[in-house]
Parts: sequence; structure tokens; C-alpha cells
Amino acid sequence: MPQPLPIQFLAPDLDALATQPGRIAVLAEPDQTPSAGFRKLDRLTKGALTRAVASTAFGKLKPGDAMDLAWPTGLQAEAVQILRLPKRADQQQARKAGAAVGKAHGAAATLVLAEGHPRAADIAFGLALRAYAFDTHKTGEKKPRGPVSLAVTNPEAVARTAAPMAAVAEGVFFTRDLVNEPANVLTTSDFAARLAAMQELGLQVEILEEDELRRLGMGALLGVGQGSESPSKVVVMQWNGGGGEAPFALIGKGVVFDTGGISIKPAGGMEDMTMDMGGAGVVAGVMRTLALRKAKANVVGLVGLVENMPDGKAQRPGDVVKSMKGDTIEVINTDAEGRLVLADVLWYAQERFKPVGMINLATLTGAIIIALGHENTGVFSNNDDLCNAFLSAAKAEGEGAWRMPMGEAYDEKLKSRVADMMNVGGRDGGAITAAQFLARFVKPEVPWCHLDIAGTALLKSDSMLAPKGATGWGVMTLDRLIRDRFEG
Ligand code: BES
Ligand code: MN
Ligand code: ZN
Repeated sequence: MPQPLPIQFLAPDLDALATQPGRIAVLAEPDQTPSAGFRKLDRLTKGALTRAVASTAFGKLKPGDAMDLAWPTGLQAEAVQILRLPKRADQQQARKAGAAVGKAHGAAATLVLAEGHPRAADIAFGLALRAYAFDTHKTGEKKPRGPVSLAVTNPEAVARTAAPMAAVAEGVFFTRDLVNEPANVLTTSDFAARLAAMQELGLQVEILEEDELRRLGMGALLGVGQGSESPSKVVVMQWNGGGGEAPFALIGKGVVFDTGGISIKPAGGMEDMTMDMGGAGVVAGVMRTLALRKAKANVVGLVGLVENMPDGKAQRPGDVVKSMKGDTIEVINTDAEGRLVLADVLWYAQERFKPVGMINLATLTGAIIIALGHENTGVFSNNDDLCNAFLSAAKAEGEGAWRMPMGEAYDEKLKSRVADMMNVGGRDGGAITAAQFLARFVKPEVPWCHLDIAGTALLKSDSMLAPKGATGWGVMTLDRLIRDRFEG
């Protein structure tokens, strides 16, 4: 499993710069006094850095952007990367600068002269996140990664600030690995085993198998998985770092592969449905982070792990299933399976844990991508307070999130002739009718948000903090929400 790069924090050693191998990154802002490290490098390179920073090209850079000086005379380093970063940079700009370093980092060593910059820890965090690579299945020579160090004037203090961030980075990496993993590797059993392994970190992990799920009456979830050779499972992860209070619950859709079932999807792009466990992946990543940083909060993570396959035993369009809640559902389209899985896991979470609130995550609908593209997760909620707290956390972490409407009027579309409801409400407002469906399995007194991450879990191009592929969207935001709301 790819782990975040270990980053060493040490005091700057200006005399060693001339013989520093690999890459050196240094901070600069045209109208601000250069740091001691910058001045030293500038002298060694006979003013090359000053000329670069005074150039029109550098002037056009935005905070967090970078410029490379290759093979500079006077240095042993192969490159000096000048990061445009004002002294009063905000968190996002500092992470962006770090990401530029992480993207360029390769086999050679990288030294970042962050010196006295107040956002040094954010630089390290951005660096770690962007240096992610999913190369588990690449044979041949693995790309080696050189060591990374950050030269800072107060190494102990920066290391202290960076420690909880490293826990978040590890959670994000865990999520990305799960989402990037192909479905022949990440089966329901393999997924559950990876979660069970987190017991080592002090999480309590339980795996509920099919016979137990049947006893509990989870007919909606079991119907989705009945055409697969992989057994359906619900995994419960508890982190009890708080007092005796009821936990906050995170619930994830974990469809390890979504063919659509008998309502089969077209071949083109179907391979992307390896990411249909993205919601469960985020829940797992957050739980990992909470355990790693020993969060002072009670949080329970529940994931429904199933595979949606066409088969002689698969569920048919027109089948009627009974949910754990007791409501019956006419399955009009077997490709609207995520809501069937979530219906039972949401209900189970409330019955067993009486949570103070809950958030579910799911790559639920193509319709949310039509509505919001890949920049924002769709946020649906029955509670303004929780929803606003979530949106503020997302904003603070720079993760796109946009609230979508809900309302009884949409319920009309879910009426069934033969059962209590249908599992689809037609094309119009498809992301909203999906949310309305979920809301039927949420007790009105429980503050709840549904996050439709179909557009944000996986990207076809690089983003600021991730190479193309799984983003880990939501781990940072949920960790912050928990910190701000329960650990204050
Ligand atoms: N997993 C898909 C949604 C999805 C689409 C996720 C694209 C990521 C990228 C979900 O199970 C699904 O198939 N939804 C259908 C619902 C429809 C049948 C009502 C959809 O969005 O087309
Ligand atoms: Mn589907
Ligand atoms: Zn799906």
C-alpha cells in the first residue's frame, strides 16, 4: 500500500546548500525580503534566483505556483524550484506550493527551504498529498522516491503541527488506494479484511456476514448483492475516543463493482465502476485518520459492501424487496442499487447506535455530475445546522461542496403501484429523487447529510493535491468537521 512520504523537519544548514544533491525548493515573493536560504542560493548561483524572481514570467505566477531553474551553476543540485509564496500566504496557497514540490519530486532527494514561513506544515501536507502514486500493479522497475526534508527555523514546533496532518494524509492515501484498486482485487472480502486490519490502530471492527444481515432483515442490501459470487457484508468500525456520549455516524456506499445488474450499463466507461465503493472508501479513510491521531470523539463508520452483477440469481427489474425498516421497495432499475444498500445501513446505524448525527457518502448518481460537474460534491440535508457546519469545513479545506434542494414535491416520483416506493424517480432531478429516497430511511429527529460524490471521488485529470484517479475527496473535510464539532 502506498504510504505518504516520510518528511523530515530539520534546521537550515546554509553551508551545506552548495553540495546539496537532488532538488532544492525555496520560497520567494517579488516585493518581500528574501529569506537567508534564498540569499545564500542566490550568491552561489551568481544572482540567478534574483533574476528569475524579477522576471515577467515569475511575476505572472499565482501564489503557490512554481518555477524551475535547471542545473544551476554553482550548485550540485539538479534544480532549484522557486515557489511563489507570500509570507502571509493562506492555507490553500501553502498547500499548493507544497503540491508543486510533491509533483516534481522523484528519485532524487528534495530539500524544501521553508525556513521561518508560518505555513511550513501546510507546505509539507500539500507535498505529501501530491506525491501520491498508485503503482501497486505496475511491474518492472518501481519508481524510487528520494528522501524529503523541510528546513525550518523551529523544527520541533513545525513537526508538532504537522503530525495530525500526516494522519490525515495517511487517511486520504488509504481512501485513494481503495478507490483506485480494481474490483478483482478489492472484492467485498478483501475490502472487509483491509478494514479488519485497522483493529491494530485501536479501532473496533465487526464484519456482519450475509446470514446476520438476513436475520436483521436487510432485504434491500441483500437483493443488490445476490447475483455476485462475492458475499455481501456490512462492516462496522468504532472509534471511541470521546466520553460516554452517543457517536456520530458515517455511512458509506461500498459497491465494489457496479455493472448495473440486469439493467446492465453500456460497455463504454463501465470500468470506472470500480470506484463505486468511493463512499465506503472515504468512511474508511476518515476512521483511519481518527485512529491515527487519537481523536477525542466517538465516531462509528458503517459500510455496505456488495457487488452488483447480472446473473441467474441476480435481482430483476420489478422485484419487490423489504428493507430492514420494514418498507417495501419495487426495484424498477437494478442500476439504482446504491440507495438500496444505504437504506438498510442507514437504518441499522440509527437503530443500533442512536447517533447524534449522521453523514452518508455515495457515488450515487450520474445526475449529480450533470448538475455540478466534477468540482463539487452534492450535499443534501434535513438539518441546516449540520449542513452549514459541513459546508464551512469543506470550504476551510478547499474541497468543493454545494447544497442541493430537497422537498416533499419530489416524493411523487417515487410512488409505486405495487410496493411502498420505487427505487427510481426518472431522469429529471435524478440526484434529488435519490436523496428523497434515502431520506425515507432517516428518522426525522436525526441530523443528516447525504453527500453524492459521484463526480468528485475520481478525476480523469490531475487536481491540485492528487494525480489523476482517486482524490480522497471528503477525508479532510470530515476530519475537520469532527475536530471542530466534537473535539472543541
Ligand atoms: N454508481 C452509479 C452512479 C455513478 C455514475 C457513479 C457515474 C459514478 C459515475 C449508480 O449506481 C447508478 O448507476 N445510478 C444510476 C441511477 C439511475 C438508474 C436512476 C444513474 O445515475 O444513471
Ligand atoms: Mn448503479
Ligand atoms: Zn452504483
